[in-house]
Amino acid sequence: MDQISRILRNDEMTAGYRRLVFLAPDIAKSALPGQFVHVQIPGLRDRILRRPFSISSADPAAGTVTVIFKVVGLGTTELAKAEPGVECAVLGPLGNGYKPVPGTVPVLIAGGYGSASTLFLAERSKTPGLILMGARTEHDLILRDEYQALGFRLLAATNDGSFGRKGFVTDLLEEALGSVPAPAVYACGPRPMLFALGRLLEGRGIPAQLSLDQHMCCGVGACFACVVKLKDADSPDGFRYSRSCKEGPVYPAEEVYCRE
Ligand SMILES: Cc1cc2nc3c(=O)[nH]c(=O)nc-3n(C[C@H](O)[C@H](O)[C@H](O)COP(=O)(O)OP(=O)(O)OC[C@H]3O[C@@H](n4cnc5c(N)ncnc54)[C@H](O)[C@@H]3O)c2cc1C
Ligand code: FES
Repeated sequence: MDQISRILRNDEMTAGYRRLVFLAPDIAKSALPGQFVHVQIPGLRDRILRRPFSISSADPAAGTVTVIFKVVGLGTTELAKAEPGVECAVLGPLGNGYKPVPGTVPVLIAGGYGSASTLFLAERSKTPGLILMGARTEHDLILRDEYQALGFRLLAATNDGSFGRKGFVTDLLEEALGSVPAPAVYACGPRPMLFALGRLLEGRGIPAQLSLDQHMCCGVGACFACVVKLKDADSPDGFRYSRSCKEGPVYPAEEVYCRE
């Protein structure tokens, strides 16, 4: 559904990252972890092209939806300027969500702002588990306190070694999987990270779901701008295309064609 939503808060969390809270009761009521909203940016001349953001929290009682975003370009720079009280059209909740696997311990794996998506899952999770975070530097390891407040154990990796292990978040995988009895993996982050993770998990029988962050246009399945490759043994190329805004963004890891 498309809702005209009032911005209640738009706060800087740390330089370049913001937390935006909308009043959007209908979206808040039905939102599931892993779903996203498509936001028309107030003040942007080209208002047709919306920007997708994961729902990082939803409070059905208060009617609020929270997204956490990184300022990267024109749209997010404009969104950063939107004051509380400003209204904008918000379409959602869109896409499918993570499907919690009963009887397992959640192992969340987040690269960069991917932790905004998995936070909603942590919030709704009945059992706290592990959060593995990876980013370029300590500054980009956002939401650490929020996960720990929810009882999640944090393992982190940074490319420059400024916090946690020096390297990639996938370097933490074996330690994480070895430390919980029945893990189920839920991951969100840049494509190379998710593909590496998908390949590392291949054939291991560990339930895993990947939330693919693909550039989007319409957000509702009409334009095919957001296609991702899924494995398809019947196709001569070994893959078929899927619209990630409609059939995704979350897919079972074993279905994703984890090669460029
Ligand atoms: C399902 C989904 C959920 C998302 N959730 C979040 C979120 O919770 N928080 C968040 O900060 N961002 C999220 N994103 C990414 C966000 O939509 C883009 O960063 C945003 O649209 C960029 O808009 P812009 O106009 O500022 O940047 P543009 O000027 O359009 O682009 C600036 C730079 O960002 C890159 N970029 C644009 N779109 C994406 C994208 N989808 N993925 C990676 N790089 C991109 C461009 O290639 C370019 O380098 C999500 C994207 C998808 C598809
Ligand atoms: S963004 Fe248009 S089909 Fe997915």
